[in-house]
Amino acid sequence: MADGNITKDAMYGAVAPDDFESMLTLDRYGERSTAFDKIISATHDHFWDPLDKRYIDFDEPFDLENEAMTPEEHSPILRLPYVAETLTDPKQRIAFINYMQLRGFSSILHGEQGALNLSASLCHVLYDQGAQEYAANQTREEARHVTAFAKYIKTRWGRPTECGAALKSLLVEIIEAPEVYKKIVGMQMLVEGLAMGAFANGYRHNRDPVAKKLFQLVMTDEAFHHKFGKIWADRTIPKLTEAERNMVEDWTAHCAQSLLFDRGDPRQQAEIYGMFDLDPERVVADIVQRRKERDPTRKFKGETNVFRVLIKTLLNAGLITARTRGFYAMYVDMDELAAEGERMVGDDIAEDGIRYLQAINFKDAGRPVSIAAE
Ligand SMILES: [Fe+2]
Ligand SMILES: [Fe+2]
Repeated sequence: MADGNITKDAMYGAVAPDDFESMLTLDRYGERSTAFDKIISATHDHFWDPLDKRYIDFDEPFDLENEAMTPEEHSPILRLPYVAETLTDPKQRIAFINYMQLRGFSSILHGEQGALNLSASLCHVLYDQGAQEYAANQTREEARHVTAFAKYIKTRWGRPTECGAALKSLLVEIIEAPEVYKKIVGMQMLVEGLAMGAFANGYRHNRDPVAKKLFQLVMTDEAFHHKFGKIWADRTIPKLTEAERNMVEDWTAHCAQSLLFDRGDPRQQAEIYGMFDLDPERVVADIVQRRKERDPTRKFKGETNVFRVLIKTLLNAGLITARTRGFYAMYVDMDELAAEGERMVGDDIAEDGIRYLQAINFKDAGRPVSIAAE
């Protein structure tokens, strides 16, 4: 077993990424964990195919030029004095909102690609057959997310935008890390936690019916990925020594810091504002001014606020203790979060989505079977 994995439950045991020979150990085949079997077999209930119009039709049009994908009040930048007096034409504001949507969907696409490679990397290191089958199943689901978001961006805009520096370095770090805890905390807890909040928001507020359906279909899968991380946390965290616990908690805070509290690359900001004939320095000056005027004790609010959803995920998993609580408490009301219970935002949306998929998947169970190659 590889060092540094802090394995507390045999089903999360791991080998080095290049140690295939260990997989051929005969005893291993007889010791398959059943902990993930329900998640693996549920995949048939929530099967969907982004290339099959019975599930989602990417040809449904949306008028990007004349309709904003999200309500204007969701774009606080448009309320900055300098921006408000420059972008006076409603069409310019629509263009700005929809361009920021392109950037948002592009981050999601890069994140999904990261999830695909990360779960494939778990297949190489996880030693238990059941855990490995879980990871293979997640890889397959992430692959359809990449297909779906790539197709959506292609249909609406033609081409995605670059992956942001902070997200890119986090994805590279967790995909390359040999330690299972780094992978699971980084992806199943952090990235997936953040995604569930972002998808729930998109599902509720995006005016494009195709985007709405897409978010819901993806959430039917993501809700299960998040559970895998939760099972790991439940079986691992209570058994950690103090030193190990500190290590995991620090890794968590490190990932959260790079994902959530990244202020954005100034060059990237310049590129965005420059496209709308805005002077980036004046926009940034307005943002700085608004932060100064804001109540410093103000916290993130709202059930679908992505920061809040993510911090709740970490709190429920036991990844925040007195040591790091202060860091998160700067941003959210921790007592309020603790009082809310374990149900995650998006669970209801995912459950409705699964019912929608079951109706399609089991409608004509007696259909003729064909083994097609194209
Ligand atoms: Fe995904
Ligand atoms: Fe996922």
